[in-house]
Amino acid sequence: MYSVRNITENLYWVGANDHRLTLFENIHPIPQGVSYNTYLLKDDNSVLFDTIDWSSCRQFIENLEFLLEGKPLDYMVINHVEPDHGASIEEVIIRWPDIKIISTHKAFMLMAQFGVTVNPENAIEVKEGDTYCFGKHTVTFLEAPMVHWPEVMGTLDLTNGALFAADAFGSFGALDGKLFNDEVDFDRDWLDEARRYYTNIVGKYGPHVQRLMGKASEVVDRIKFICPLHGPVWRSDFEYLLDKYQHWSTYEPEVKGVMIAYASMYGNTESAAQALAARLCEKGITNVAVYDVSNTHVSYLISEAFKYSHIVLASVTYNLGIYPVMHNFLSDMAALNLQRRKYAIIENGSWACKSGDLMQKFIEEKLKKSEVISPRLSMASSLRPDKEKELEALADAIIESLNA
Ligand code: FEO
Repeated sequence: MYSVRNITENLYWVGANDHRLTLFENIHPIPQGVSYNTYLLKDDNSVLFDTIDWSSCRQFIENLEFLLEGKPLDYMVINHVEPDHGASIEEVIIRWPDIKIISTHKAFMLMAQFGVTVNPENAIEVKEGDTYCFGKHTVTFLEAPMVHWPEVMGTLDLTNGALFAADAFGSFGALDGKLFNDEVDFDRDWLDEARRYYTNIVGKYGPHVQRLMGKASEVVDRIKFICPLHGPVWRSDFEYLLDKYQHWSTYEPEVKGVMIAYASMYGNTESAAQALAARLCEKGITNVAVYDVSNTHVSYLISEAFKYSHIVLASVTYNLGIYPVMHNFLSDMAALNLQRRKYAIIENGSWACKSGDLMQKFIEEKLKKSEVISPRLSMASSLRPDKEKELEALADAIIESLNA
């Protein structure tokens, strides 16, 4: 059965929701599913904006055929080729062989790499600032390299104000019938998944997102709808969304608070982490979130690390190194370019305690513009009452830094 939503006159969502995929990009859990958004404009010529993951192609074709009512699909604008969107390009070409494809030079190159056969006579290469008219609607193109692949562009419909934003402004989570930001409680139900999506998928490319936001700000008065490739379509409250993106893309913390991430083998490092959390709350700092890195997928840890201003890393020593799961978290923070955070360290080792020095070195060498708060809390095997003063001193140092 077709499942479409009307966005504005002659513009439709023709995407699909996926609750079957367990891991997005075969790495990030998506317990609330994901939507693949594609859009159809019925102008004098029909125009499809992006295609869909192969898993949802049948639904997508059904949606298209319902709206096209037997007429051909004339154009396809490809803003992003990654297979969660580009996998069905070939299927569209097979069904509508005369379709004209509009995209960037790099996108056509990537399509060829993925084995998509495009008739050169039907390929229309565009670049920044070009315009194209489909009848009543004229669109312009904004190159957005590395948001999140090098071929990416955004497309702004100058007639109805729809910005097709590719991966920018997207989110994990299936839409399940809803479409617009004002049809959901975004702050309550979507923000955490939007942050987890942004930080893990696009987080590394903050400066590129900043450049796209700069371009968008020049035409912001013309934007009426932000149509991302995943998650809700925005038709109001742009300031809220842009404020989140401003924080995430500049690596500024979203909130003042403390994330405590612990790596514990037998519960002793965990106990120290919990004792610190209790001290902080006792002293009035209740914006504290505690995570066991061994049973929290790193994509959630990354999302929280982008959110909080202060991060406590508590790790046991393992094979004279940092506990592997903690090391993986640190490596992911570095890979995603996380910076501008204040860290505190709790180290544990029954003999040859090394994790503190190694975590400090990692932070100082690989996490830009970051700082380690003194003192470090060091323990041998477990935190005993004789460490009470040191625990207190660490809590006080974190609070002093929070209040600075
Ligand atoms: Fe949703 Fe970069 O693909």
